[in-house]
This record gives sequence, structure tokens and C-alpha cells, in this order.
Amino acid sequence: MAKPDAVQRGLVGEIVSRLEDRGLKLVAAKVIRIDDELAREHYDEHVDEPYFEDLRSFITSGPVVPMVWEGQNATRQVRRMIGDTDPAEAAPGTVRGDYALDLGRNVVHAADHEDPGANEREIDLFFDDSELVAFERIDETWLYE
Ligand code: CDP
Ligand code: MG
Repeated sequence: MAKPDAVQRGLVGEIVSRLEDRGLKLVAAKVIRIDDELAREHYDEHVDEPYFEDLRSFITSGPVVPMVWEGQNATRQVRRMIGDTDPAEAAPGTVRGDYALDLGRNVVHAADHEDPGANEREIDLFFDDSELVAFERIDETWLYE
């Protein structure tokens, strides 16, 4: 998901391009506003953290672009491509390492690949089943052996 800072800074296209160029397949996307209730559900495991109020305020502050990407090990590969949570530690070449400086403005969210249910849970929070579009990219035979 492109967070409000990514939308305001015009970085949505850059984020989409990076994942597309890698060969991942975009099967759902939209522009929405997250309200307090959705913020609490989405960041369920963070609600008791000291930073939660700032996080809630930030994530509800402007439009976001949730997306669903598919491909070989997509969840893991997206996490690698977005980089460490803290942009100060994120490697150059990652989205956060190239486009952010501050932990509270780290441009993108992605489901945690180490939490087995996270992906499905987050897709269900943001999309109806009918909004996910199954299709084949024309280059799939050149992306996969
Ligand atoms: O987003 P990611 O899964 O990499 O990190 P997280 O540990 O699940 O934290 C979720 C989000 O909370 C981060 O992306 C930050 O926006 C925010 N956060 C924060 O503002 N301050 C912290 N000390 C930790 C997280
Ligand atoms: Mg997380």
C-alpha cells in the first residue's frame, strides 16, 4: 500500500513501476481514505504501542493506494523491495531506502511475510473478492522457467 506521504509526494507510479518491472503482477488497486476504525483493524497489533496515535493520525491523513500483487514469493519479494521499516536503516535500492528518511513517513506498507495470515487478512480488509482480477501477464513464460 502506498501510504499518504507516497500519494502526496507523487511516488505511487514509482512504487508500481518497481514492482511491475520486477515481474510482479498487479491484480487489484484503488484510491481510498482510511478511517479510524480501519486504521485500528489494519494496525491491530500496534494499537497499544506508544507510536500508535501518531501512526493512526498519519495513515488517516490523506488518500492511500492499497494494491494486491501476485508472483513467485510475492509477499517476501515485496518486503525485500520496500526495505527495512526504518528508512534510516533501509538499504539504497529499496523503496524506503531511496525515497524516505523518517520512520513515521516510510512511504509504503506491505504485509509481513513472517506472519502467515497477514496477507489474506489485509486483502480482505481492503478488497472484495470481485475486485481481484485474475489474468496472465503476456511475459509470464519469460519470467518463469
Ligand atoms: O511497516 P512495517 O511492517 O515494516 O513495520 P511495523 O513494525 O509493522 O510497523 C508498522 C508501522 O508503524 C511502520 O511502518 C511505521 O509507519 C510505524 N512505526 C512507527 O511509527 N514507529 C515505530 N517505532 C514503529 C513503527
Ligand atoms: Mg508490519
